[in-house]
Amino acid sequence: MKKILLTGALGQIGSEFTLKLREIYGTDNVVATDIRETESEVVTGGPFEKLDVTDGDKMMDIAKRHNVDTVIHLAALLSATAEAKPLLAWNINMGGLVNALETAKELDCKFFTPSSIGAFGPLTPKNETPQDTIMRPTTMYGVNKVSGELLADYYHQKSGVDTRGVRFPGLISYVAPPGGGTTDYAVEIYYEAIKNGKYTSYIGEGTYMDMMYMPDALNAVIDLMEADPAKLKHRNAFNVTAMSIAPEDVAKEIQKHIPSFTLDYNVDPVRQGIAESWPNAIDASAAKEEWGFKAEYDLAKMTADMLEKLKEK
Ligand code: SER
Repeated sequence: MKKILLTGALGQIGSEFTLKLREIYGTDNVVATDIRETESEVVTGGPFEKLDVTDGDKMMDIAKRHNVDTVIHLAALLSATAEAKPLLAWNINMGGLVNALETAKELDCKFFTPSSIGAFGPLTPKNETPQDTIMRPTTMYGVNKVSGELLADYYHQKSGVDTRGVRFPGLISYVAPPGGGTTDYAVEIYYEAIKNGKYTSYIGEGTYMDMMYMPDALNAVIDLMEADPAKLKHRNAFNVTAMSIAPEDVAKEIQKHIPSFTLDYNVDPVRQGIAESWPNAIDASAAKEEWGFKAEYDLAKMTADMLEKLKEK
C-alpha cells in the first residue's frame, strides 16, 4: 500500500483508520472521502474529497487523479439501519461496493472491504463458527455482506484484483460512535457508565456476540493487507474476533472501575432478533494461520482503556 483511497472516512472505522494510515503511510498518501464534510481532522488534516459511493464516475475520477494503488472501501449502512431501509441499504452497500471494485480493477489496486459476523445466519453453527460454513443470513445487511464477499472473490478470480476482507465482529471505540448497528450497545454502555452511571440495554441478558477493540481491528486490516498473498488460502472474508460477550459481562467489568454502575434491560425486538440470528462466538484460526491475526485487547484491558479515554473526553 503506497497511495490509499478510503471511502466512508468519517464513519465509525474510517474516523480512526484515516489518521492511523496517514501516520504510517504519510499524510499525502491517504485520500479520505465521505458523503459528508465536517470540521474533523479527517477532512482538514490531509487530502479529502466529498464522495457519494453510488457515483462510480466520481469515484473513478478521484482514484485516477490521486493515482492510488489501494482502495479501502468502508462506506456502508449498518445492520439495524439496513433493516429499517432495506432498498436503500442494497443500493448503497452493493452499489458502492461494485463501484469500488470496478475502480480497483481499472487501476490495478489492492482492495479491502469489511464483511461482518452479520454475514452468518440462524443455520450457522453458533459456537466456534468455522471460517467455511453455512451462510444464510436473514437480514438485508447480512445479504449485502455475503453478496459482497462473493463479489470480491469474483473480482479476484476473474479479473485478478487483489481483494482481501475480514468478517468484523462488533467494534468498540471511544472515538467515533457507530450508527444503526446491532452491536452498538457495547459502545453506548461505556458512554452511559461515565455520564450517568447506568445503562439500559436493548440487547437481552445472555445474548452473546463477538466484539473487538478498534486498535486491534485497524491493526488486523493493515496486517492482512501487508500479508504475503502466497500464504492466503482465503480472501473474502476472514473470521476475526477478540472476545465473545453478553451485556452483563460488560457491566461486571465496568463495575470493577465504577462499583455503583447498574445495568437494566429494555429489549428491542428488532435488534434482539438480529443478534439472535448471528453467532455467539466465531473461530478466527484461519486468520491466525494464514496472516498471523492476533488481538491485544480482551474485555478487561479494553474496558480499562475505554473508561480512561472517555473520562478524558
Ligand atoms: N457492528 C455491526 C452491526 O451491528 C456488525 O457488523 O451492524
